[in-house]
Amino acid sequence: EDPRIHGIKTKIRVVPNFPKPGIMFQDITTLLLDPKSFKDTIDLFVERYKGKNISVVAGIEARGFIFGPPIALAIGAKFVPLRKPKKLPGDVIFEEYTLEYGRDRLEMHVGAVQLGERALVVDDLIATGGTLCAAMNLLERVGAEVVECACLIELPDLQGRERLNGKPLYVLVEYQ
Ligand code: PRP
Ligand code: MG
Repeated sequence: EDPRIHGIKTKIRVVPNFPKPGIMFQDITTLLLDPKSFKDTIDLFVERYKGKNISVVAGIEARGFIFGPPIALAIGAKFVPLRKPKKLPGDVIFEEYTLEYGRDRLEMHVGAVQLGERALVVDDLIATGGTLCAAMNLLERVGAEVVECACLIELPDLQGRERLNGKPLYVLVEYQ
């Protein structure tokens, strides 16, 4: 394991019973307060994805908007926001999904991603996998190839990885 990962792990705060009883909330805002750990996080993703011909980084609202853009800039890809309902002004396609705590929908602007583009999907965390699955579906519906999904944190107990239909998932930290 890369030695930088331990430092990253120590900066993620776990908040019990937020936003609902029984949820162990993985808070990445404490990681963002430490410039070294934040940079290490971005660097680890950039080292993995530079030179892989990725033309688009798709970031998932909200926390995927923190990590996606610096990765996109560093690897020379465009950034496409996948947003919660009714935030995007242009024509959109959407996918609905169920969440660990609720139900939601992701939207993407029509025309933001072209047929045959190579896409990386970025979010902070995979729990049940519903969010990443919806994101991948949006990209695949417009004919993009999802090269990989990248997250800081995986909650393996929730088996979200199994919802990704065999698509590769890369995570820095697992919480048992
Ligand atoms: C959280 C997290 C992931 C998603 C993972 O986002 O940031 O996007 O849940 O859950 P899943 O794997 O079970 O789908 P959330 O929608 O709670 O809020 P956010 O807008 O703060 O990112
Ligand atoms: Mg989220």
